[in-house]
Amino acid sequence: MSIVLKNIEKMNIESFQKDLIDWFKREQRDLPWRKDQDPYKVWVSEIMLQQTRVDTVIPYFNRFMEWFPSIDDLADADEEKVLKAWEGLGYYSRVRNLQSAVKEVREQYNGVVPDTPEEISKLKGVGPYTAGAILSIAYGQPEPAVDGNVMRVISRILSIWEDIARPATRKVFEQAVRELISHEDPSAFNQALMELGALICTPTSPACLLCPVREHCRAFEEGVQNDLPVKTKKTKTRNVQLAAAILEDKNGKILIHKRPSTGLLANLWEFPNVEIEHPLDKERAHLEEAFNSLLGLNIHLDKIIGQVEHVFSHLIWNLKIYIGKINVVLEESEEWKLVSEGELEQFAFPVPYQKMFKIYLNSLENGELFAEKE
Ligand code: ADE
Repeated sequence: MSIVLKNIEKMNIESFQKDLIDWFKREQRDLPWRKDQDPYKVWVSEIMLQQTRVDTVIPYFNRFMEWFPSIDDLADADEEKVLKAWEGLGYYSRVRNLQSAVKEVREQYNGVVPDTPEEISKLKGVGPYTAGAILSIAYGQPEPAVDGNVMRVISRILSIWEDIARPATRKVFEQAVRELISHEDPSAFNQALMELGALICTPTSPACLLCPVREHCRAFEEGVQNDLPVKTKKTKTRNVQLAAAILEDKNGKILIHKRPSTGLLANLWEFPNVEIEHPLDKERAHLEEAFNSLLGLNIHLDKIIGQVEHVFSHLIWNLKIYIGKINVVLEESEEWKLVSEGELEQFAFPVPYQKMFKIYLNSLENGELFAEKE
């Protein structure tokens, strides 16, 4: 028998479940997706919460439910509007997959989110965590929902020393949760593990003295709570230098570009930009040439007005921000548009470009635009 199962055997599982669930019922935060058990709402909230903090998610979730209150509304929505609803949350493939998946639910399952592990796991973007979360929270099934937070909590309770950075490790934790989960209230049990991870059993300096399941925790007993979970470092992030420009035409309209439909930030909008691969590229004449060959037209760069750094999970962007002018009449297309400042709001821009536009507005306010120096 594995060490994990041996440790579980020594536990009083019923007492652990009761202490955990009683605490959750007393202390749980009042969160908008906890108001009812609607599988669609549970689904949307769990997708949003996968890479994003609760406080950030709340206003996005509320607005998403206003714009797309049902599976039908989301299935029928324009992708542009769906991306706009997600603007700033990052990991945009989450919402593209969500929309494909709700379309499938409508077509294959009559608009009802399936309630079996086999069917639900086939939906786009629904991995084992999301499947377990929906099945337990919306449908009351005793399925594990194991994400990084739950692995941290369980690694401490059972003193599991496997590397949680390895994808294969999640299975060990799923097995452990299958042994521990309450069959009377799987929804409260799984949410309680998440809540404990968020409020008490935090990554650094866990609040063990306030912990409702301290008596059941092997890491606390052994004084090793700060050494768990074991997580090896991921590989280094790559740095990318970009020059991006706010380019105005003769009518003061700004040129924007729709990113390709695959890859990073697919289908979101951006300001024209080129990668700086060589130190010489930083010189304005070189940059103008690079922009001109990208755009197939004649632009003039006035000056640099600032820079933005943005950290993604696997790379860091450093954007040098330029302003400039378009000297010819430009044909608009699906990917290239000329828009007024007010119209920009209708397009979904990733955060680094939102930051860039703020810097541009500030520089306008400060009246620096016509200064000559760089
Ligand atoms: N993190 C992941 N899922 C969550 C949920 N349902 N409530 C709070 N935090 C979460």
